[in-house]
Amino acid sequence: PALSRIQNIYDFEYIASKVLTEQAWNYYSCGAEDEITMRENHYAYQRIYFRPKCCVNVQDVDTSTTLLGSKSSVPFYVSAAASAKLGHDDGECSIARGAGKEGVIQMISSFSSYSLDEIAESRIPGATQWFQLYVNEDKDVVKRTIKKAEDLGMKAIFVTVDAANRGNREKDIRMRITEDHDELDEDHSVRAGSTSGAMPSFIDKRLTWDEVKDIIGLTKLPVMLKGVQRTEDIEKAIDIGCQGVVLSNHGGRQLDTSPPPIEVMAESVPVLKAKGKLDPNFNIFVDGGVRRGTDILKALAIGGKDCKVAVGLGRPFLYANTGYGEKGVRKAIQILREEMKADMRMLGVTNLNELDESCIDTRRLVGR
Ligand code: FNR
Repeated sequence: PALSRIQNIYDFEYIASKVLTEQAWNYYSCGAEDEITMRENHYAYQRIYFRPKCCVNVQDVDTSTTLLGSKSSVPFYVSAAASAKLGHDDGECSIARGAGKEGVIQMISSFSSYSLDEIAESRIPGATQWFQLYVNEDKDVVKRTIKKAEDLGMKAIFVTVDAANRGNREKDIRMRITEDHDELDEDHSVRAGSTSGAMPSFIDKRLTWDEVKDIIGLTKLPVMLKGVQRTEDIEKAIDIGCQGVVLSNHGGRQLDTSPPPIEVMAESVPVLKAKGKLDPNFNIFVDGGVRRGTDILKALAIGGKDCKVAVGLGRPFLYANTGYGEKGVRKAIQILREEMKADMRMLGVTNLNELDESCIDTRRLVGR
């Protein structure tokens, strides 16, 4: 269908389900085991209600912000997702162009279909890219990979910490067995960050806080931990000098019945604030199940003025890139931005800085 007929993010998902091969659709869409976490990631947002303010002059609304020192037209970004080529021949390169042209930041996966050089070359002048790192057992590989990311102009390193074991994604595994593929990590792809190393050792199961500290020491770039799922670990990340965390369960693809990240956020922010642990410049990003402008506004309201919040989306951009490439990615961003603007007006805020806990009612969240 023509892009002009696409109304929302779910439309892209529906079309992708029709045009992707069965194997690619299963790989993109599946979650771990019973997919409880994957579903709840999304449903948790439905348990948060707004407290709209009336009679505010909302003629001009502004969705722009600064994320890790780089300008962004919106408070959301394209999260790292492996194997974008399964959906479109240009893979991560068309995502880079689409995001860049809309002033949106792209996080590039260690398991991209294209090399990091190629994806960096596709960067629009002035656009920002971040690099997602899987920590290899071989520390020389880690060093070289970070150096390469720096040399190619990446503006932050996101260390993924929720993948010490591959999640048990049964739909995906079943397809691979039929196709006689092996079951190793993300095996569709050329690994953007890797220079060598056999797949089984690509993700170090022995990764600990000490090593994360070493990684921070290796680079001047901001280091973010992606896949943090509890308050205590946010505290540790603060203590060792991370620039921030991404509350994430890998889109429900890793440990099933992990909590929805937005609930972790609603629980953690007040606790850390009460302990005096939060600095307004500390970054708490969140991803998983975000499909609407309202979802994004809710996450920002939970963080309020106590920390810096941004929201990541994974599958929506893989789906938008499927078939439509760069134009689809642009359209997905435009849809979300327009939703946000309309929602901000109806909520009674003109600027993202005005979003705080008074804008939402979280009493229906589990444990509140
Ligand atoms: C991912 N994600 C991911 N994360 C990461 O750190 N490195 C990676 O290589 C990948 N690869 C990947 C592939 C696919 C197909 C998906 C769907 C996801 C996780 C991703 O960055 C993000 O955390 C989730 O996708 C967010 O959930 P939603 O937006 O997909 O619901």
